[in-house]
Amino acid sequence: MIVAGIVGMFMGSCNYDYIVFPEQLPPDTSKTYSFKNDVVGIFDASSCTNCHPSAGGLDLTENNAYASIWANSLVDTTDAENSKIWYYPHPATGSHGTRYGAADPRVGYMLEWIKQGAKDN
Ligand code: HEC
Repeated sequence: MIVAGIVGMFMGSCNYDYIVFPEQLPPDTSKTYSFKNDVVGIFDASSCTNCHPSAGGLDLTENNAYASIWANSLVDTTDAENSKIWYYPHPATGSHGTRYGAADPRVGYMLEWIKQGAKDN
């Protein structure tokens, strides 16, 4: 019963994200990921913007995030997993005090977006 309850809760949270973000999980690598539509919203959703209009010289607010990420050299388009904006707050392996939500599919979209050149799209 307890196991069923935990699984049920997990499924519930997945279903919720699935409704909000109907894209496939893991990311559909045939798709072009857009910073504006698929990535930037994660910073508000994960409370990053509470500290990062300015903390560490990094501004993750919607209109400034793209420029600030590049200005701080936080993306590595030749080795996407070496991108600090991705690995430092990673939900499972990140070492930053605040991390992305574990069920947020935009963590995967971000990695694809970086692999695709981290464009201002
Ligand atoms: C409680 C405040 C706080 C929150 C919330 C927070 N950060 Fe930070 N962040 C900092 C501080 C302070 C630093 C600078 C010290 C350090 O590197 O840890 C920093 C540094 C960083 C860096 C390294 C910047 C660099 O130039 O090396 C990244 C990337 C980052 N944060 C991303 C995020 C993301 C993404 C989120 C949301 C998941 C987030 N932060 C949430 C305070 C915060």
